[in-house]
Amino acid sequence: MDRHSAKGVNEGVAPVTYGTGDRPPRGNYARAGADYTCVQDHGQYTEADHDTYRRLYARQLQQLPGLACDEFITAVQQLGAPARIPRFDAISERLFRATRWQIVCVPGLIPEEAFFALLAARKFPVTDWIRKPEEFDYVVEPDVFHDLFGHVPLLFDRTFADYMQAYGAGGLKASRLDACELLARLYWYTVEFGLIATPKGLRAYGAGILSSAGELRYSVAHPEPQRVAFDLQRLMRSRYRIDTYQATYFVIDSFRQLFDTTAPDFTPVYARVRETIADSGEIEAGVVLPGELRFTV
Ligand code: PHE
Ligand code: CO
Repeated sequence: MDRHSAKGVNEGVAPVTYGTGDRPPRGNYARAGADYTCVQDHGQYTEADHDTYRRLYARQLQQLPGLACDEFITAVQQLGAPARIPRFDAISERLFRATRWQIVCVPGLIPEEAFFALLAARKFPVTDWIRKPEEFDYVVEPDVFHDLFGHVPLLFDRTFADYMQAYGAGGLKASRLDACELLARLYWYTVEFGLIATPKGLRAYGAGILSSAGELRYSVAHPEPQRVAFDLQRLMRSRYRIDTYQATYFVIDSFRQLFDTTAPDFTPVYARVRETIADSGEIEAGVVLPGELRFTV
């Protein structure tokens, strides 16, 4: 889910990532171009690979009602027949007609500058390989199931799609301002682990939640984690855990709210967040500030 590296141009070797890794990302980077995209070799998937996809899809689909937001549930059908790993080109054509987004194939995690550049061009990178059967419940790096099932449906939503492009453009700017760590928190707590308040109750819209067997119900319905109202500066001060379910989730009211609060220039926001961190420190995952509005389930 994190996409970080020292270099922004593919040189045929796996990018350096930070996070969990004691090993480099898997995937063959020699087959990718300078922008890290490659051709999905649909013929390389085995019947066992298709079977893994089919079982992952079926398990997630049956838990969506009451836990995933309506926009996601409606759009997930756009992924096509769930019996086999889809051809990216077919989904990409439908997506382009809906919101002018496309999906492109990548060998795995890519450096953040390359990632931002693709998003800014309304291209979402999807990893082509699928997890091994022994990783059915948990895979450390994003695979085709996480990227497709988790991320692609909401790209069919106009407002969310515009947010993703703005994020990419914002990422290119954050690279120049040395603010990628703060901006990465926004991606983490919205695109990957965001919750949304709806008239029917809290629902998930983050891809890391929606593609997870256990965290989908945990994030929406378990009493243990903290759920706080989305607040950009508070969020940017908040550290996150990448090896367990989240201890804190941020709750938006609507995709429109998310887009509108992140539209202004972040240059002064980064400066203020840095000052606050210097004065009062970062906020650990699971910590709630005095007087902070919380959602209970
Ligand atoms: N407004 C942000 C900036 O100036 C761009 C952005 C939009 C970043 C949406 C993230 C998400 O950097
Ligand atoms: Co992801």
